[in-house]
Amino acid sequence: MCSVGYISFCRNTRKIVLKVWICAYIMLMMTCDGADISCPSECTCLTTFSQEEENSLRVECMRGDMKSIPVDFLDHKAEIVIISAPLGRPNYLTIGPIFTQPTPFVNLRELHIVNSNVPSIGQYSFWGLQNLRLVNLTHNNLTSIGADNFRGLINLTELHLDFNNIEQMPSETFRHLTALKILNLAHNQISALVPRLFRMLAKLFFLDLSYNPLTDLNPEVFKDIQHLRIFKCRRCLLRRVNTQIYHLVPHLDELDLGENQFKYLTSDEFISLKKLKKLKLDGNQLSVIVDNMFGRNRELRTLSLARNRLALLAPAALTNLTSLVHLDISHNKIDRFHLQTFAPVVDSLKTINFSGNNLPLNEIAIVLQILPEIHDVGLANLSLIDIPLNFFTYNEHLIALDISWNKISTFPYKLLTKTKFLQRLDISRNRLHTLNEQDLQRLEAIANVDLSRNHWRCDQCSADIMLVYMTTTVLNVTIRQLKCHSPLRLHGVYFGDLTLDGLELCSTTHEAQMSVIAGLMLLCVAILAAVTTALCCSRRRAAQYYTNEEKRRGHEHEHPEELLGRTDLGSVATIHAPVHLVTKGS
Ligand SMILES: *[C@@H]1O[C@H](CO)[C@@H](O)[C@H](O)[C@H]1NC(C)=O
Ligand SMILES: *[C@@H]1O[C@H](CO)[C@@H](O)[C@H](O)[C@H]1NC(C)=O
Ligand SMILES: *[C@@H]1O[C@H](CO)[C@@H](O)[C@H](O)[C@H]1NC(C)=O
Ligand SMILES: *[C@@H]1O[C@H](CO)[C@@H](O)[C@H](O)[C@H]1NC(C)=O
Ligand SMILES: *[C@@H]1O[C@H](CO)[C@@H](O)[C@H](O)[C@H]1NC(C)=O
Ligand SMILES: *[C@@H]1O[C@H](CO)[C@@H](O)[C@H](O)[C@H]1NC(C)=O
Ligand SMILES: *[C@@H]1O[C@H](CO)[C@@H](O)[C@H](O)[C@H]1NC(C)=O
Repeated sequence: MCSVGYISFCRNTRKIVLKVWICAYIMLMMTCDGADISCPSECTCLTTFSQEEENSLRVECMRGDMKSIPVDFLDHKAEIVIISAPLGRPNYLTIGPIFTQPTPFVNLRELHIVNSNVPSIGQYSFWGLQNLRLVNLTHNNLTSIGADNFRGLINLTELHLDFNNIEQMPSETFRHLTALKILNLAHNQISALVPRLFRMLAKLFFLDLSYNPLTDLNPEVFKDIQHLRIFKCRRCLLRRVNTQIYHLVPHLDELDLGENQFKYLTSDEFISLKKLKKLKLDGNQLSVIVDNMFGRNRELRTLSLARNRLALLAPAALTNLTSLVHLDISHNKIDRFHLQTFAPVVDSLKTINFSGNNLPLNEIAIVLQILPEIHDVGLANLSLIDIPLNFFTYNEHLIALDISWNKISTFPYKLLTKTKFLQRLDISRNRLHTLNEQDLQRLEAIANVDLSRNHWRCDQCSADIMLVYMTTTVLNVTIRQLKCHSPLRLHGVYFGDLTLDGLELCSTTHEAQMSVIAGLMLLCVAILAAVTTALCCSRRRAAQYYTNEEKRRGHEHEHPEELLGRTDLGSVATIHAPVHLVTKGS
């Protein structure tokens, strides 16, 4: 046994690292000692010490391939029992009243039996385990459950039955679990909720029914769980929700209805959910968010509308959302905005995701300009070739930027010199082929960078500085994982496996010669063109002025609301700049 001196050291020493090591050692010693506790050979048993609680015994049997629970060898004082198996080596177990007879595990607080192909629970299996707070039976093969399975679990607060094959649950299945707060039934085969299913679950605050073929939610069952705070029914095949349900659970603060089949929502859909803070509607088939949709959800902080078919957010779609922090409208069909839409959220919004829409950059620039608090912007999958260098002028708090899955071929160095606080940058899956010293220096100051899947060119003029930074700076891990795109000989080779000598000699490559020739030819054409235009222009200057002036006006009229009631058009002006330049230059 562990000496008293050691134990008091564990409790009192302040040197955390030392404490962890020495106390872990003591625990091991105790396991091996076996003077006081018995431990089955296929398990590990640890006694942990903590300031607040008595020494508590934790048994873990995680090797897999078990055919029965070695209950005779388990110490009856165990507080936490974890029986699990690695993916390829599942257990095949049954649960009967093994923890209650002949001597009950009176101290048992948590029981996890996971990935063990348990086919059913058996009646009275947990009878008398008054201290049991958590039962975790995820990843088994339960097909039906009933009230008798859970008799005696008067103090159970968490029941996890996700990843099973449950089809059947009669009325009042959980009636003995009067203290239950968390019930997870996700990833089963539940196709209907029978009336009074959740009777006696008055304290339930978390219910997850996601990934069940439900198609419809019976409002009746929500009468018994009126204190629900978090409800998830992701991918439940729902087309609509009877809004009576929302009247029954007015305290709901998180609702996940993602990946269902909603085609429309009425403007009073969520009118009863006045406390709602998080709403996920991503992956549905919504085509419009109508005016005043969230008018009564004033506390909403997170709203995901990603992966729908939205072409439009109505001008008053976000009315009253003055607490909204995160907005995800990515992967829709949005091609323009009404500026008024964003007026309610200008002071609160910190995250916005525009990725994967049909949005031109100027539409996005106009919105960003009125969102000075924004921290996190998603601009992936927008076919961007380039980003104007004053794009984030009004967003000085930018911390995270995702510009992955675009067609950017030059590192946006100048743009990024203006985003001083940037800490996360994803520029993966673009067409970058090299980084120069300046670029690399900027990247060094960004904690989290993803540069993968670009068109990295592994020849001596393009990759040499990158290799230097790989061996000498904090970018080492980031660069090491990149793969060469060209030349063909090095395609797919990791930078980590390259040496400076192994690189292609750039000046003599065929590709380089060709590009020099092409460049010279272009230059000749350009000079010729310039001379010709100069000659023509000097004669027709006046006429051309009028033509261009008309063109410019036409362009502005494409987006009338951009110009209405706006005084600050700084970045709009720059984005339209090419048009103005033509006018001035001629
Ligand atoms: C259930 O047990 C598995 C395996 O030990 C674990 O990974 C999972 O986090 C547990 N779930 C809960 C809610 O404790
Ligand atoms: C799971 O249960 C079903 C129905 O009882 C049965 O057909 C199937 O063989 C079981 N699977 C395993 C891996 O035990
Ligand atoms: C378990 O529940 C019973 C009855 O409600 C209560 O008397 C007892 O104190 C609870 N035990 C614990 C450890 O909370
Ligand atoms: C916005 O909130 C105010 C105050 O709660 C309320 O009077 C108004 O009706 C709400 N607007 C809408 C469109 O629901
Ligand atoms: C959109 O961007 C935000 C923040 O960058 C991110 O948390 C979220 O997962 C993204 N949404 C999708 C659907 O990728
Ligand atoms: C970009 O689009 C592709 C293809 O639709 C998708 O697989 C990927 O997740 C998207 N990436 C982001 C960051 O939106
Ligand atoms: C990479 O850089 C980090 C931070 O400078 C350093 O701690 C680590 O040792 C480096 N790794 C290699 C393989 O150079």
